[in-house]
Amino acid sequence: MKALILAGGKGTRLRPLTVYTPKPVVPLMNRPFLLFQIELLAMAGITDITLSLSYQPDKIEDQLGDGAEYGVRLSYVTEPNPLGTGGAYKWAFAKEAETALVFNGDILTDFDLSAMIAAHRDKASDATIALTPVIDPSRYGLVETDKCGSVVRFLEKPNPEEIDRLGTNLINAGIYILEPTVLPLIATGENASFEYNVFPEILNRKMGFNSFSLDGSYWKDIGTPESYLTAQMDFLNGDITGSILPKSQNSEIATTAAVDDRSLIAEGCVIKPNAKIINSVLGPGVHVEEKAFIENSVIWAHSRISASADVRGSVICRSCHIGKNVVVGCGSVLGDKTSLPDYSKV
Ligand code: GDD
Ligand code: MG
Repeated sequence: MKALILAGGKGTRLRPLTVYTPKPVVPLMNRPFLLFQIELLAMAGITDITLSLSYQPDKIEDQLGDGAEYGVRLSYVTEPNPLGTGGAYKWAFAKEAETALVFNGDILTDFDLSAMIAAHRDKASDATIALTPVIDPSRYGLVETDKCGSVVRFLEKPNPEEIDRLGTNLINAGIYILEPTVLPLIATGENASFEYNVFPEILNRKMGFNSFSLDGSYWKDIGTPESYLTAQMDFLNGDITGSILPKSQNSEIATTAAVDDRSLIAEGCVIKPNAKIINSVLGPGVHVEEKAFIENSVIWAHSRISASADVRGSVICRSCHIGKNVVVGCGSVLGDKTSLPDYSKV
């Protein structure tokens, strides 16, 4: 079985994080995000992984390379123009005779893929889709199944009436196993969406379309700054299993600085006396000056938090300068190179 990671979206909803950094390599726990998916696939024995890209492909390839470092073989397919989720699958796998495991490139999960693969084979389905419950299905694809778990309806971005009518909160978790029998439903080189075109057509043709519940595993679409920050707070809280880089030994932390055990500090950070860091992730080379306070936040590489600044519940991207006594309040998201003069409040 081969895997295809759909990573060609522009990451618009994740702006400003994605202005200079493509979504697949946005740092999560100080590692390119897609590494979590790559590791999950490798754990299920899938080592042949294609990344389907259309936006800033070179930056992604530069960071992830050929995959040897992670024990997989990575290949890259770039569309001439974004072809949509289904069109991207056809573009990459048109001549593929093997089963494909397709992953939306912005899903963070610790789900055991091998159980889903076994269920797909057992039922000899043309397609199997992973499902997870959410409180508000309106941002997702709502999936209705029968008692045996076969998919009977798929409604992308349902409106409130449709959600009420279907009476389910199970949504498409963005992980599919597809047989090559699905490929003829999509025209090569044309725009097609799994969600709006391909899945309805599979149902229309009464092909085997099964579901598999993620059942208690962690699942999150990290496609907005809010969910990106929450996912890391969840990691620090131990809610998700996955590799985390060890705490760096190569940072200078003053003896009178207080860094709690949960926080993750990358290499080359400098943390000055009486600074306090709680439940946060600091990327490489971050400087935190005297008496600065950082809580529940993610700070990307080479940003500087000046003396007595107060940062809570925020994402601060690369090379920002937060001046002295600045207050960065909950929910702030500061793009690369933001500079906040002393005493600003945001
Ligand atoms: N190669 C390629 N080409 N990839 C694409 C394209 C394209 O034209 N368009 C989107 N993608 C990739 C995105 O990069 C992302 O990883 C994935 O496909 C899904 O696109 P999103 O834009 O993130 O979709 P969504 O979050 O609104 O909804 C999708 O995911 C939900 C789960 O998070 C749908 O699949 C929903 O049904 C699902 O519930
Ligand atoms: Mg998404």
